[in-house]
Amino acid sequence: MRESDSFKESFDGFLVEQFSAGGLCNEKERKKLEEGYAAYLEITDKFSRKSVSYQLSKKDALHSWLKYKEGFSADLVNILLDEMGVQKGDWIMDPFLGSGTTGLVCRMRGINSIGYDIMPLSSVVVKAKKAVYCYNIQEITNLLQDVERLNTPEGYEGKTEYINITQDAYPEQTESFLQYIREWNENSSYSDDAKNLLTLCIINSLERCSYTSKSGQYLSWDCRSGKVIETNRKRAEKGQKLLPQKYVRAEIGNIKETIAGELAHVLDDIKTIQENSLEVDEAQIRFVENSVLYEIPKLKDGILNGVITSPPYCNRYDYTRTYALELVYLGLGEEAVKKMRQDLLACTVESRSKMNDLEKFYQSIDQAGRFKYIKETIESNRALKEVIEALNRRKENGDLNNHGVIRMVEGYFTELGFVFAELYRLCKKGAMAAFVNDNVRYGGEVIPVDFLSCALAEDFGFKVKKIYTLKQQKGNSSQQMAKFGKVALRKGITIWMKE
Ligand SMILES: C[S@@+](CC[C@H](N)C(=O)[O-])C[C@H]1O[C@@H](n2cnc3c(N)ncnc32)[C@H](O)[C@@H]1O
Repeated sequence: MRESDSFKESFDGFLVEQFSAGGLCNEKERKKLEEGYAAYLEITDKFSRKSVSYQLSKKDALHSWLKYKEGFSADLVNILLDEMGVQKGDWIMDPFLGSGTTGLVCRMRGINSIGYDIMPLSSVVVKAKKAVYCYNIQEITNLLQDVERLNTPEGYEGKTEYINITQDAYPEQTESFLQYIREWNENSSYSDDAKNLLTLCIINSLERCSYTSKSGQYLSWDCRSGKVIETNRKRAEKGQKLLPQKYVRAEIGNIKETIAGELAHVLDDIKTIQENSLEVDEAQIRFVENSVLYEIPKLKDGILNGVITSPPYCNRYDYTRTYALELVYLGLGEEAVKKMRQDLLACTVESRSKMNDLEKFYQSIDQAGRFKYIKETIESNRALKEVIEALNRRKENGDLNNHGVIRMVEGYFTELGFVFAELYRLCKKGAMAAFVNDNVRYGGEVIPVDFLSCALAEDFGFKVKKIYTLKQQKGNSSQQMAKFGKVALRKGITIWMKE
């Protein structure tokens, strides 16, 4: 047996034999990537699938304060910080901070951090977690008792706001209680931190007290909701088939009890953390609520000791739909939600190109040359070109069920390329960057997100150090599998270094 054959065998089922189902499209560049980067691959259970997702955080004090399925675990951040040799006082960036896991773990270890996210949800949760050592236990105990006693007054006419996609998401009593508790919280004499903590507990209760459930790319609706009842009434009138009698949960939660339960849970965690931490590290957590694309280009060179992050995946997952209830509760209206959908790193089929705006932005900070260099570098990446050409061919062949996928994939890697380029500039020599991501397949074309990201990162100067891949891979969608067969879709963590 040749050496290369035995090498391939050890990665059996993890390397892709055929990128383009049926050999329809050119796959030379993707094969080259596979051959080049396989040497850095390590199949591992060091990061179980649980630790790259929110599941492990569920049992962690503090990290479980927001149910954020897209989040990774504190364990994962700890392992990566150890592996990267990050020291107290260093600066770590998470450009896609989400529920704040990277920042919070760093702070517990005396490491400074900077994070970005476009969702106001992140602001609330990061502020709430950051204050864990500062809460006055007596104040939060009083707040909990007040919430337990709170009732919507007789004749109160307020009602929580909706946008089109959230219309009638709650039972009537919940609609008014949500508005009432919001006004009560705003006008109460509790401290800012206590008010923000209550807002977090409310946000965390919304889904369970609604007729919706976060599933896949959209919200699923319960047949008891006004929305489904009305749709079915209209359908019946027209003699159309009715929507199925689907229940998203057996019982729709009682809003006051759910919020109080959340607050009690958070209060327990605060007590435990305050009692057990002998010494509070002084490390900073900086958070900016904005698109990272428009923030990091403004920062000075060479300020970071490392990066730990998980960007949105290239999988059509729309955060503004899944988190619509929470965004609307936090005050976003119809237009603001639509704008946020466009501000997301291109990960939905509705994403439009951000290049014109980004170019103007780079000009406004006197960096037109840098914009040009980054854009041209990305455009000259052969593997990315091959992927886009293959998707266009698939479109002609009728294999793509949504043509927006092409714009999404192109936008996704272009925008990530800008992030990689800026991160390289921001890193000090010796700093490492860890990106968690999943590979995907559209219209029978495998997109090796891990290796393609490595290639782009190397185009900007990073050196690939390791590509971890989890033993448990991502499942193939049943549609793709039926039409094109099964392929390896790695879930991985790529580690790069600025040498
Ligand atoms: C996979 S999640 C990160 C989860 C995080 N690691 C955690 O533990 O909670 C990706 C995050 O990127 C955010 N995001 C998407 N587009 C962004 C952008 N242009 N700038 C900053 N954040 C963005 C999303 O709102 C989401 O919270």
